[in-house]
Order: sequence, then C-alpha cells, then structure tokens
Amino acid sequence: MPGRYDDLSRDDLIRLLERRDTRQLYGLVWEREGIEPDRAFNDDFVVLDLDPALSTAPQDGRGWRNLVIEGDNWDALRALRLAYAGRIGCILIDPPYNTGSQDFAYNDRYIGKDDRFRHSLWLEFLYRRLVLARDLLADDGAILVCINDENRARLDLLMERVFPGMRIGSFVWRTKDTNNSDKRRNWSGVHEHILVYAGPGFAFRGVQTGAGKFRLRPGFGDVPVRLDPITKPETFKTRAGTYYPIQNPATGLWYPCAPNQVWRFWSETQPPRGRARLETSMEALIRAGEILFPPETAPPFFFADRADLNAAIARGDVPRDGRNRPLLRADLPDLDFWIGKPIARGRLSRIVRWTEELEAGMRPVGSWIAGLSEDATGEETETLRSERQGAATTLLEHMFGQQVFSFPKPLSLMRALVRACSGEDDIVLDFFAGSGTTAHAVLAQNAEDDGNRRFVMVSNAEATEADPDKNLCRDVCAERIRRAIDGYADTQGLGGDFAYLRSRRIAQEDVVYDLDPPALWTLLQLRQGFPLRSFDPLAPVQLAADPADPERETLAYVPQMSAEVLAILGSIEGAVLAFTPVPGLLRDAISRPGLTVDRLPDRLVQEFVRAVTGL
Ligand SMILES: C[S@@+](CC[C@H](N)C(=O)[O-])C[C@H]1O[C@@H](n2cnc3c(N)ncnc32)[C@H](O)[C@@H]1O
Repeated sequence: MPGRYDDLSRDDLIRLLERRDTRQLYGLVWEREGIEPDRAFNDDFVVLDLDPALSTAPQDGRGWRNLVIEGDNWDALRALRLAYAGRIGCILIDPPYNTGSQDFAYNDRYIGKDDRFRHSLWLEFLYRRLVLARDLLADDGAILVCINDENRARLDLLMERVFPGMRIGSFVWRTKDTNNSDKRRNWSGVHEHILVYAGPGFAFRGVQTGAGKFRLRPGFGDVPVRLDPITKPETFKTRAGTYYPIQNPATGLWYPCAPNQVWRFWSETQPPRGRARLETSMEALIRAGEILFPPETAPPFFFADRADLNAAIARGDVPRDGRNRPLLRADLPDLDFWIGKPIARGRLSRIVRWTEELEAGMRPVGSWIAGLSEDATGEETETLRSERQGAATTLLEHMFGQQVFSFPKPLSLMRALVRACSGEDDIVLDFFAGSGTTAHAVLAQNAEDDGNRRFVMVSNAEATEADPDKNLCRDVCAERIRRAIDGYADTQGLGGDFAYLRSRRIAQEDVVYDLDPPALWTLLQLRQGFPLRSFDPLAPVQLAADPADPERETLAYVPQMSAEVLAILGSIEGAVLAFTPVPGLLRDAISRPGLTVDRLPDRLVQEFVRAVTGL
C-alpha cells in the first residue's frame, strides 16, 4: 500500500526530518491530532448582552463597575479580549480538576474517567482558554490557577507552554484536617496547589509591616516601637557559632541561648570565619541600645557548684524559654560555664523603632498557606492564611440556607490571594467563577482596605439535558454576590455592584444584521474602560461619563444621524470621542475642536477578526 511519504525525494525527506527535529518541543505533549478539535473554536463574533433586571443598581448612578457574565468562558474570553486586552491585573481561576467525574464538557460532552483521551481533552480545553487569557494580562499582572495534587505537574507544564518564562512559584494549602482517604497505603491527600505565573512587572503585595505592630511602650519615649524575636529555628548542633551566652552589661545578669532556637546574630566573642557578616553583631546591637533586657520579676537563678546545677536540671528548676522549655539541659556542652553566675529569667528581644521606611516596607509572602489558627508567622515572611474546604461549604449554606454548590473554595483563601496578588485599582478576572467566591473575596478585600478593585466573573449555567433549566450563574454566582453586597443573615453588606451579561455568538456572515446597537454600546464602553451604562433606546446619542471626571460625558455612540444628534454633540464642551457607522457624515455636519470621530462597528469587528485569526 503506498504511504504518504513514498513520492518524496531524499532532499524533501531530509527537510521534513529537520523540520520535525527543530519543532520537537521540550515539555508537554498531548494528543492534539487524535482529538476532534473543539467545535466551539470558530470565528463567530461574540457580544455580551446586558440584562439590567438581573444586575444590581449601579453604585452612585454612574454605571456598573463589575461584571458577571453567563456563558461558556470560551465565548466570554473572546469578547473580553476585545474589551480588556492587557488590562487585567489578576486572573484567579479554579478550573475543573480533570477528576474524571464529568467535571468539564468538550464539544458538549461531559468527560468521564474511562474516556480514552481524558487528559488530552482536558489539556486542550484549558490550553485554548489560557491562550485567550494570556492576552488579557497586564505587564504587571499575575495569573493564579488552583489545582489538585494529581494534576499539578500536567498543569504546570501546560502553563509553562502558554506563559513561557513567567513562572513565579506555587502556593500549597491544606484542604482538610485528616482523612485517611487511601486506607491501604495509609495516605491522606490533604493539600492542593495554586500555581502563580506573572508578567515582568509583577511583585507580590505582601503585607505592610504597618504601624499596627508598632506601639508606644513605657520607657521608649514617644516613638512607637516593635519588639522582634532575636532567635532563629536552628539547634546548638547545627549552628554552634550562634549558640552563646549573653550578658547584660548594665546588670551583669546572664542569658542562656535556647538549645533549639539559637541567636540570629553572631557574637564578637566567636566571629564567623570565611563568611560575609551580613547581619550586625549581638554586641553592636547591645551597645546601640537595641536589645531589650526585660525587668526581672524574681531573683536570678544561681548554681553554687556542678552538683547544685545537676540537681536543678533534674528537677526542671532552671531558666526556660517562651514556650516553657528548659534552657539548661544535661546534654548541653559547657554546663560548667553557668556555675557561680547570676542567670536571668526573662527573654530578650530586639527593639525596632518606627521609621517611615519601615512603615512603607513590605514583607514578602511565603510560598505556602497556613490554617487560620496555625502559628506560622516567621520573622521574614508573612504567610497567607486560609480555612479548610469545609468552611467554604458552610459559608454558602449560611448565605443560602441550603447547599447550592459542591466544592467552593474558602473565601479566606481567595481573599489572601487577592490581597497578595492584586493592586487596589486592579481588575480581578475569574473565568471559572462557579459560586462566585473570587468576587466575594474582592468585595471583602475592598471593604477592608478601601480598595477600588473591580471584578469580572464568568460562570456557565451548568444546564444539561437532564437539567435544562439549571442556571448556576444566575441562581448561585450572581445571587451569592448580590447577598455579599447587600448583607445576608446577620452579616453586614460589603457594598458594590455588578452588571449581569450573557455571551452571544454571531456568525461572521450575520454580523451586519445581528450586531445590534445595544451590544455594540456595551463592548465599546468596556473597551474604552468606562463604567457600564445600559443602552437607552429613546436617546439619539448614547453618552458615557469619563471615569476620572464623572461630570463630563466624553464617549458618544451615534447609531443613526439626525438633527437632534448634531444639537446634542454640538452642545457638549471639551473633548468627545464619538463612534458611528457614518463617520464621514458626522464629520461633515459638525466640525468643532475636540470632537474625534471613529467608525463603529467596523473597527470592533476588524479587531475581533484579527484577534481570533491570530490564535
Ligand atoms: C472548580 S469550580 C470553581 C469553584 C469556584 N472557585 C468557587 O469557589 O465556587 C469550576 C467551575 O467551572 C465551571 N466551568 C466548567 N467549564 C466551563 C466553561 N467552559 N465555561 C465556564 N465555566 C465552566 C464549572 O461548571 C464549575 O462551576
């Protein structure tokens, strides 16, 4: 049987092989040839239809700042790409985890465990969407993706492919307390990951050291001070060089070092050899008055001889650390040093006096997430904190009075991520919004730090043949956000707003007929970065106020020319950017300084086609 290479010459074959070799990708490969391409991948134009009845009242009447979009995110992302390219500061998504339990659909088919191409379909499904999302990300933006342990490696390679060179790291968080899920191996999978990829200008916000930790304390005058620990978690064996006694030069009292928590500063009595002395010495800090020797409330310990000391160690009657662990033990070296010396009971700390630089300073976040009740604050890092998964389900039940969604993410987790990875004026996008936890987190964070973050949530209806009336986006996602805004049960509302939109596809050949003025007006306002107003069918000109100066209408859309249009546009003072299908007519009819005229819808359609065909 003739093969497909039979007719090729030797040179052609060599060229083919060379091309194949250079195309070989290091990293992830999936069966793209073997799976039917996603039928959703087409060049349809996508619009977002506004539904004012399902939207909240816009705050202060100026237009909606936040969006909830109902629809497949493949469509929504294409419309968003037209409106938000390069403007999203934080993308936070929690996609289906490829569990095999029909958690995502490909070509309208839910994928189960036994599907031969299950992993490839999942990768292709995510790949297409991540490529669209990439273009939305600002240069200083970050994308964070939640994933379970099983699929973490696959997703990381996929992310590396879509966002080359942008990997920052991953957070790990504890999902449940204990659950011996694999009894045979005695293994409990209780953690998940959040992968972080970011643009060149991104930096974690961390947590401001802030004046909160500085306080006025007796004896320190009128400058607020913070007391920092001066130990680090190393033992007298691993860090013998920083295990040494300290004497208070003013009182002569001695302070033993904790055997499992040695000093963080080196001593001039045993200077480190061959290593740069990055930190200052303990003696220099003492001379500068930066070490706090707390007042002693009881007489010091005193051991007259070795027998006396040994007996005290045996009784446990020796100085102790902050956690009540003995500082003198039988296994420690140089115990004779302590004979005949007054030994203090108090523990030392470093006095940090408040300065403006410290106030502004940020602490880097750690690469893991601790439980809300865990003590995990290190000296250099501020750890993100989160509840376990169960708390998220309880919260939703509290908000709705019944169970409405399975496996939401904890609000505290999403909030910690929003706080660490978004600026106060950023737009936060979640295109696998589910029950809308990310939007709730944005509202809660804004309420706490007075931020202006906006959100764009995309959630599908999750309707199936068996349950055609299900509408997760309307009944859970939007409803949850509405309750968070207005308040629920005994919880005060966080304030805020959202416009409710639905994605709608229009085939290229129908664009001229079906691309209606209300849909165009919505896309135009989003693309220009204006708060969203609904289309007024009675108004000859649609006008939008400048976000920076709400008193001034600076964006206009003229679907049809009329004398009234000319009168209105002529009466507005200052710069106006007007869009119309008949720019020539408008320019001829009014010529006044500050009026710029552009063609719509052609411009949007051209941009859209370029965006889609460029994929
Ligand atoms: C893991 S859940 C997200 C849960 C969310 N983080 C929360 O806390 O509620 C993933 C969601 O993505 C939705 N989803 C799956 N495929 C989608 C698609 N193509 N477009 C939009 N949403 C989709 C699923 O229906 C599900 O609600």
